Amino acid sequence: MLNVTLDSLRATEAAAIAASKWVGTGDKLNADRAATEAMRDRLNRIDFAARIVIGEGKKDESYGLFAGETVGQRARDPQAVFCDLAVDPIDGTRPTVSSGPEALSVLAVGEPKGLFATEAFYMNKLAYGPEIAGRTALSLSDPIEKTVELVSAATGKDFSRIVVCILDRPRHQAVIQRLRKIGTRIKLIQDCDISGAMATCLPESGIDLLYGVGGAPEAVITACAMKCLKGGFQAQIASDDGAPLEGGQVYCIDDMVRGECAFAATGITSGSLLKGVRFTRRGPVTTSVVMRSESGTVRWVTAHHGN
Ligand code: FBP
Repeated sequence: MLNVTLDSLRATEAAAIAASKWVGTGDKLNADRAATEAMRDRLNRIDFAARIVIGEGKKDESYGLFAGETVGQRARDPQAVFCDLAVDPIDGTRPTVSSGPEALSVLAVGEPKGLFATEAFYMNKLAYGPEIAGRTALSLSDPIEKTVELVSAATGKDFSRIVVCILDRPRHQAVIQRLRKIGTRIKLIQDCDISGAMATCLPESGIDLLYGVGGAPEAVITACAMKCLKGGFQAQIASDDGAPLEGGQVYCIDDMVRGECAFAATGITSGSLLKGVRFTRRGPVTTSVVMRSESGTVRWVTAHHGN
């Protein structure tokens, strides 16, 4: 697959720096516009042609970089080698403009026609780290109690030491109650379930599972991140109001990401995974992670940018 890892990183860094100027302003529209323009500008400087398969979700009614757009210096070259892109210039618009935690700028690269194209608003999601993926077979179709039981058997942890990360939304009240009933710990997050899913692959996070309904575009990006981290991820289309749909197809990583992929994320505000953008007299400082499934490389990058 075309190796555009460093260029992808530059695109998320630029978007994060642009977004960071709107931290705490309450202005979602301009934060989103700034991040999107910065990401597009960087993508258009890369010597490639890339089709946006997952763009800004229609859920957000946001600005630009929509599915179907072609970006890159060679966007109009019929001979150009294409790749697929899934972008989210700001995952966590709310925490960005309210100065909350965990906002990221993210981008995933797939092979041509490699990334799952969906117009759905929401997907139900289950994510877990490589240790669990290597020891047991989980299924999003199983009741959550059975999933916790399998995780307990695979890790040797009793239920009270298993931590499930869930978006704090009214739609999750029932599942939260069921998990509390069996004594599982719950880490409620306000936003940003991409980093919640990635946290299951980082033992120091203490998170075993990410579960519940979140954005569908974020699910495809998460599948790329989990492929690079060798974790497990499954997702199922939910209804437009976020209610899980019974009996729909469960997509696994290889259904959502055919072939190899790469993933880059840069912190906008600080979170469990990455620090947010900091401004120094010499210019902004960013922290990012950039990964490739083919090589298995995971690079944590601190970059000092000029003014
Ligand atoms: P945006 O900033 O792109 O809106 O996404 C933030 C987010 O928290 C995602 O991480 C998550 O998947 C989705 O929103 C959840 O949607 P909702 O806020 O509608 O429950």
